[in-house]
Amino acid sequence: MQKIQIEGGNILSGNIEISGAKNSAVALIPAAILCDEETTIYNVPAISDRDSLVKIIELLNGKVEIKNDVMHIDSRNIENAFIAEELSTKLRASYYFMGALLSRKKYVEIALPGGCKIGDRKIDFHIKGFKALGAEIIELENRYILKADKLKGSKIYLDFASVGATINIMLAAVKAEGTTVINNAAKEPEIVNVATFLNNMGAKIRGSGTSKITIEGVPYLHKAMIEVIPDRIEAGTYIIIGSLLGQNLHIKNVIKEHLTSLISKLQEIGVSIKANGSDLIINKSDKLKPLNITTLVYPGFPTDLAQPMSVLMTQCEGTSILEETIYTNRVGQIPYLNSMGANIEKENNIIYIKGKTPLYGNDVIASDLRAGASLIIAGLIAEGTTSISEIEHILRGYEHIVEKLTQVGANIKIITEET
Ligand code: EPU
Repeated sequence: MQKIQIEGGNILSGNIEISGAKNSAVALIPAAILCDEETTIYNVPAISDRDSLVKIIELLNGKVEIKNDVMHIDSRNIENAFIAEELSTKLRASYYFMGALLSRKKYVEIALPGGCKIGDRKIDFHIKGFKALGAEIIELENRYILKADKLKGSKIYLDFASVGATINIMLAAVKAEGTTVINNAAKEPEIVNVATFLNNMGAKIRGSGTSKITIEGVPYLHKAMIEVIPDRIEAGTYIIIGSLLGQNLHIKNVIKEHLTSLISKLQEIGVSIKANGSDLIINKSDKLKPLNITTLVYPGFPTDLAQPMSVLMTQCEGTSILEETIYTNRVGQIPYLNSMGANIEKENNIIYIKGKTPLYGNDVIASDLRAGASLIIAGLIAEGTTSISEIEHILRGYEHIVEKLTQVGANIKIITEET
């Protein structure tokens, strides 16, 4: 069994290079099978979610070559195959093969998707969208069958601006006959990245990044390339680490406009963050004011950074309040933070964090990806040794996290223990 072991307390300085965005890459890779020719995706992060998606493309008779961060996908001969549980449950984004295969082959058979256990994660809006486009959906106990003779453009309103549903409907609609309009679409930058990739193939998508996306169907998608945007959540995680431990810590390759809500909040409580082109330079603050955060859809405060922020809040002087509005149970880090010395109480979807409390190293478990990132932050500021197990959740989404932190001075390593 692999664990991450951290000796806390080191000041961090130097450069951390941000990788391509997980939540873009995991949609761009399935989107590639829509192409009737070949595609190239640049800046793909080396995370285990990437490898899980490649296995699915290979199952579907696609050919994938990866050289460093460049992925080449030959999707000329895509065929249908049942995407079974051992592949689909590895990650949430396996559900993008619903939209992509429905569009390409008019038939999909796929077991339920996996992903972090952070509360209810229904896919009813995706299904509603596919139905509106003319698909028949058969829901069996543990899998879905989606089929259509042909897909026809439609007007779809999303009850909630879901990232996954917006992308999945876009994928399904791109070759449908006529025009599809998605109202109350999600506006996250990852959606713009996917729409740009499809448009590079010849798709006709307008309005991505706004709440109304219009897709005019086209019959054929040609050779294209795309670069994955920098990961705003990875960058945010390192910015939070820098706020606690940074001394001229340079976070490189950041689109700072994607991080406005986080940067503003941190500056308000006393952190020094300076921008220099695509670099952010962070210096820790020894006196942090408490703060209130409510997670919201983009451009509001991202739910994916709420768990890492809960660690920073333990170091603010006074009571901070964190309200999670996107997921029902995104709190896997709390019992472990409390076991390290934090004072956190949960009432429904609101958590109250009383600071400032020193943290002490402990044996803890990464229950999901961002809970794992939170425990790394806690370990970095704690006195003594922190040992994190179930680190596969962390490696699903953070490229080379141990190497990147080591390079700036952290005492962190992966250890292998006999089970
Ligand atoms: N929802 C429904 N029905 C649906 C779809 C969503 O009720 O059909 C609800 C969900 O239950 C949830 C909320 O809407 O409560 C948000 O879901 P959304 O569809 O926006 O999220 P997602 O597509 O499943 C993506 C990211 C998440 C990120 C969210 C919000 C991927 C693979 N996942 O999830 O990333 O938190 O958008 O930005 O892109 C992470 O990276 O740690 C992560 C969980």
